[in-house]
Amino acid sequence: MDIKVEPIKPLLGAVVRCDKATMFEPGFAEKIKEVLRDRGALVFPQLNFTDQEQLAFTDTLGDRLNFTNNVPGSDLSAKDVYTITLDKDVNNENEYVWGSMYWHQDGITSAIPPSPITLLSCKSKAEQGGQTEFSNTAAAFEALSPEEQAKLEKLRVIHTTAAAVREIKSRDQLNPQRASMEHEHPLVWTRPDGRKALILGCHADYIVGMDKVAGRLIINRLLEWCSRPEFTIRHQWTVGDFAMWDNCTMLHRAVPYAEDSGRRMHRTSVAGAVELA
Ligand SMILES: [Fe+2]
Repeated sequence: MDIKVEPIKPLLGAVVRCDKATMFEPGFAEKIKEVLRDRGALVFPQLNFTDQEQLAFTDTLGDRLNFTNNVPGSDLSAKDVYTITLDKDVNNENEYVWGSMYWHQDGITSAIPPSPITLLSCKSKAEQGGQTEFSNTAAAFEALSPEEQAKLEKLRVIHTTAAAVREIKSRDQLNPQRASMEHEHPLVWTRPDGRKALILGCHADYIVGMDKVAGRLIINRLLEWCSRPEFTIRHQWTVGDFAMWDNCTMLHRAVPYAEDSGRRMHRTSVAGAVELA
């Protein structure tokens, strides 16, 4: 199989060089999942996937996540493709896209299990900002002391959509259905391979059974820890680039860009099958 994997930093990230046809060869999906487990986030420069090709590739990795509940910007170009844009003509609830400029994991406040893999194509880029940053929380967790790890492993966190956009809108300004979205997850998730990762982000509202301020201090300090250069990479997009990442291990965020920048990304997701534990 003609595929070249070039690590970006010692603890995370890789640039993958292969052509589109290779990505549909038997065995590629298993191979790339292995690379993903190891590197967390993969960038395929200038792949130029069409929506249909991206959906077909998504389907090789597992069941596709269907956007069924009228998420603004979903199903615009093709069914199950979510358009990420600040353009209010496309997405009249763009506060969630503003919210994606803070560290987060996708779909964490939903009642359905979060996506294991997120896939993204760059259709139009911002002249300034708009890069995507990734943080490997498994590497960040492993670098903590055993005492700290043991303390964190006992904690559970309530994640809410209102918390995810708290810097942008207050809870009572949100659509009531989204304002009520919340879900509890363990702070430390044990991956199928036994490695541990953090379920964390701007949607982490409070720690169960702990004073809210004390809990948020733990959450904020962990987010700062995960932001250290050795745990993070930043991808500067070129139109046509494609990326995929392990959504339950990696945090991601966009570098701020202007509302009229024209930045437009197409996202697909593999559906989650099990609750995190
Ligand atoms: Fe996201």
